[in-house]
Amino acid sequence: MNTETNASSATLVDEDPQSRRIEVQPRQRKTPATYNPRHIQVVDYSFFYGTTQVLFDLNMDIPERHVTALIGPSGCGKSTLLRNINRMNDLIDGIAHQGDIQIEGQSIYDPYLEVISLRKRIGMVFQKSNPFPKSIYENIVYSLRVAGRNKKSELDETVERTLKAAALWDEVKDRLQESAFSLSGGQMQRLCIARAIANQPEILLMDEPCSALDPIATGKIEDLIHDLKEDYTIIIVTHNMQQAARVSDKTAFLYMGQLIEYDETEKIFMKPSEAQTEAYVSGRFG
Ligand SMILES: Nc1ncnc2c1ncn2[C@@H]1O[C@H](COP(=O)(O)OP(=O)(O)OP(=O)(O)O)[C@@H](O)[C@H]1O
Ligand SMILES: [Mg+2]
Repeated sequence: MNTETNASSATLVDEDPQSRRIEVQPRQRKTPATYNPRHIQVVDYSFFYGTTQVLFDLNMDIPERHVTALIGPSGCGKSTLLRNINRMNDLIDGIAHQGDIQIEGQSIYDPYLEVISLRKRIGMVFQKSNPFPKSIYENIVYSLRVAGRNKKSELDETVERTLKAAALWDEVKDRLQESAFSLSGGQMQRLCIARAIANQPEILLMDEPCSALDPIATGKIEDLIHDLKEDYTIIIVTHNMQQAARVSDKTAFLYMGQLIEYDETEKIFMKPSEAQTEAYVSGRFG
C-alpha cells in the first residue's frame, strides 16, 4: 500500500481580514497501490447550448478513487460539465459538443454504447435532495426493482450496505418503512447518496450536495465523501472553497467555460500557478 498525502482539512487564514485565503492541512490517507490516473478523460471538450458555447476545449484526466472538485463562479459551466459525464443534458434541444469524454478509454458518445448502461456506472447526487415519495427502504431499492431484481435477501442486503456506507444506518434502521420525507434535510441527502450507490456504480457525481445543509450535516457528508472515495471516483461541484480544500485531492478551476487551472488541491489553494485562480480562491472575485 502506498500512503498518499491528501488534503482533508482546511482552515481560514485570517491575518488578512480582506482575504478568504485557505490553508490546507494535509493528512495522510491510504490509497490503493494501483489506481487508474485517467479513469475519466475529458479531451478537447467543448459544449454548446444552441449557438452559445459554454465549455471551451477542456482537457482533464480524472483519477480513479480520488475526489476531484470543480470550482468557479456561477455560470462558468461546472454543472454542464458534470451533467455531460452521464449525458444528462441529452434531453435538452439544440445541444452539441466537440471533442470527447471517455471512461476507461471508452467514449461516452460511442454510438454502440447504451446510455442506460453508462448511467449504471455513474451515480448522481444533486444540490437539493430529491427522495422519491416512497419509504426509506423503497428509495434505495428502486433502481434494483426497475432492473427486475426483487429478491428480498438482495434488497435487504443492499439497503443495509448502502445505508451503512452513507453513515445513515444507525439513525434509520428501525424506521426503514417510514416515508423518506420524514427524514431531516441532512439525512435525506445521505439517503440520496445511499440510493446513488445502490447499483454499485464506479463514479459518483455530486452537484453542490451540501449547499442546503447546516454545518453539522455538511460535516457528515464530507466525512462520507472521504470514506466513499476508497471505492468510488468522485467529482464534486462546490462553491464552498473550504469544502473543496477539505474533501478533494484535485481541483479544477473553471472560468467562463475555460479550464484555467487543474492540479493537486493543495497546489490550487496554496500556490496556484494562475493569477485568476489565486484571485478566486482568495475571494477577490466570484
Ligand atoms: N439548459 C440550458 N440551456 C441554455 N443554457 C444553459 C442551460 N443550462 C445552463 N446554461 C448556461 O450555460 C452556462 C453554464 O451553466 P452551468 O449551469 O453549467 O453553470 P454553473 O457553473 O454550474 O453555475 P452555478 O454555480 O450557478 O450552478 C451558463 O451561462 C448558463 O446560463
Ligand atoms: Mg451549477
